[in-house]
Amino acid sequence: MKARIAILAGDGIGPEVTAEAVKVLQIIAGRCGHEFELEALPFGGVAIDAYGDGLPPHTLEGCRSADAVLLGAIGGPKWGPDAPVRPEPALLRLRAELGVYANLRPIKVSNALLNDSPLKPEIIEGVDLLFVRELTGGIYFGRKGLEGDRAFDECAYTVSEIERITRTAGILAKARRGKITQVDKSNVLETSKLWRRVSERVIREEFPGVSIEHMFVDAASMHLLRRPRDFDVILTENLFGDILTDEGAMLAGSLGVLPSAALGTGAKGLYEPIHGSAPDIAGRGIANPTGTILSAALLLRHSLGLDAEAQQIEQAVERALTNGAKTADLTSGGRDALSTEAMGAAIRQAL
Ligand code: IPM
Ligand code: MN
Repeated sequence: MKARIAILAGDGIGPEVTAEAVKVLQIIAGRCGHEFELEALPFGGVAIDAYGDGLPPHTLEGCRSADAVLLGAIGGPKWGPDAPVRPEPALLRLRAELGVYANLRPIKVSNALLNDSPLKPEIIEGVDLLFVRELTGGIYFGRKGLEGDRAFDECAYTVSEIERITRTAGILAKARRGKITQVDKSNVLETSKLWRRVSERVIREEFPGVSIEHMFVDAASMHLLRRPRDFDVILTENLFGDILTDEGAMLAGSLGVLPSAALGTGAKGLYEPIHGSAPDIAGRGIANPTGTILSAALLLRHSLGLDAEAQQIEQAVERALTNGAKTADLTSGGRDALSTEAMGAAIRQAL
């Protein structure tokens, strides 16, 4: 097949990890007879430096006309909280412009990494859960401001915003173990009460084989560490999803191995590792490219319909890890740690 993929390398370790994912995409294209047109576009801090805008018009246009977007990471101390223009709003704008309201963050614990998590192997063995985080609403996108000595961020959700993300969770749960845990703070928040009511109704009326339970976010953050195997699909709003997925990532040993997909109504999606730009290790060639490579696999599956190719990449990653290929984030103390390039090479070798 023919496809256009926009590549937004971004800041910090972004360029290093996307380079490895691009090599994997090129191997898949060559071997399976696909034609991927890869277009590198400036985004984030580097785009602020060059154009004064984290999401310049030609980058947005390139993403709009592409079949899928692969993003590395954005941000860094150079564009900190007091900078006049910051990269994070560019990412929120891109998500909103592409209409990618459903953020899928799968956390599957590899047997090869059972001893690399700070959590006990017997707690995390067999963990296979999927976060479905709402991505274009809530407190991230509400009215906000600073008036004198008072600041505010408004959190609002509409019924239809909750309905559509619940349907995404329902469809995904049906193809998995059929269990949704909807996470909120409905003992305090009005938006959470609406989430509980609407998600309950959508699942009951439209997904007969799927069960839904509801959990307060404080309790969920505890159960995620105490009995993570009990979760299948975790459905939650934007801010809670942001926080819980960083926590959940530690189940898998490192933020560095986890991919994500952001989807809207069509096939187009925005794919990125869940880690950030890691300015402390940027440019040293030691970042873990696995999360970005697995994001490329999700891109093939969800935007291009190439499930077999996605599986090949996922299996190659698993084989490489099993063979002992690990970057510094996965080897306590950094002994025998592979460089970013060597890790990418080990995965390509397995592929
Ligand atoms: C993430 C990031 C972003 C978010 C930041 C960079 C705006 O933390 O993708 O999880 O909060 O959504
Ligand atoms: Mn985050």
